[in-house]
Amino acid sequence: DWVMKDHIAEAVEAIRRQVGDEEVILGLSGGVDSSVAAALIHRAIGDQLTCVFVDHGLLRLHEGDAVMDMFAGKLHAKVVRVDASDLFLGKLAGVSDPEAKRKIIGGLFVDVFKAEAAKIKQTHARTVAWLAQGTIYPDVIESGGAKSKKAVTIKSHHNVGGLPEQLGLKLLEPLRDLFKDEVRELGVALGLPPEMVYRHPFPGPGLGVRILGEVKKEYAELLRRADHIFIEELRNFIDPHTGKSWYDLTSQAFTVFLPVKSVGVMGDGRTYDYVVALRAVQTSDFMTADWAELPYALLKKVSGRIINEVRGINRVTYDVSSKPPATIEWE
Ligand code: XMP
Repeated sequence: DWVMKDHIAEAVEAIRRQVGDEEVILGLSGGVDSSVAAALIHRAIGDQLTCVFVDHGLLRLHEGDAVMDMFAGKLHAKVVRVDASDLFLGKLAGVSDPEAKRKIIGGLFVDVFKAEAAKIKQTHARTVAWLAQGTIYPDVIESGGAKSKKAVTIKSHHNVGGLPEQLGLKLLEPLRDLFKDEVRELGVALGLPPEMVYRHPFPGPGLGVRILGEVKKEYAELLRRADHIFIEELRNFIDPHTGKSWYDLTSQAFTVFLPVKSVGVMGDGRTYDYVVALRAVQTSDFMTADWAELPYALLKKVSGRIINEVRGINRVTYDVSSKPPATIEWE
């Protein structure tokens, strides 16, 4: 629409004015905000933008390749993919405390990003002067307000505050004035696929907080496959009353890997395999959330497919806990 086209034109002009002929680095996570920021900045300054995509090995099935296909493939943006999965899994070995895991993942993320940014700074002919971030209006409010007043930390989030100073870069935040739904509209107008722009949120620590206790490569592989089936079926199941898929009727849905084994039977043999929990919630602000009343037929399809297709998992449960007192993620 016209309003959005005007907005894009204005934003592109503003970015060009701000950046001049200097270079910009952006941390691409595959999430909505950094993706839209990347698409917008790329529209404005093309090859003056270098995206850094740190793959911590805790992404969902095919997620890393999808990010590369979209940004390097379709948009022809410069993207450096850093495969740091061995580094992350190595440092996480033997660690089972949720807060310790979060701190390791967040800290390593910053280290890897900083090292990559330093390399880019050295090798580029033009001055690399800007760090772009997909900060949106609610983040601006949150960091100045409610969050800092909270007395108890329930979960320490990925925090990239202070990064521009440490890297000696100026901050470029083209989405600062936008609400989430405006960011999504902008993303679609910039040509990003609606499935990407209307995705459920995914936490910075990724599958690291969806594998309870110690993270192991084997667990991550099982979880990725089970979660992929759950998401696929949520997209497939259309609610006849609204015409919407259950993916769109839920605010967030995912699979959690439980490192416990239970006994099962398959064919005429005994199995002793892992358990997963399905989690789906409805919420408007993620501060409180209700577990979603998914149709039994959907749950049945998902559990049947996971148990049949993912050897190593023989039991599927559904999480019927609301927030509070449970949180949305299990760690
Ligand atoms: P909880 O589990 O606290 O989650 O009810 C609320 C929302 O926050 C997301 N979440 C995170 N997002 N970095 C993020 O960017 C994080 O470290 C993180 N931890 C939780 C969670 O997925 C849910 O949408």
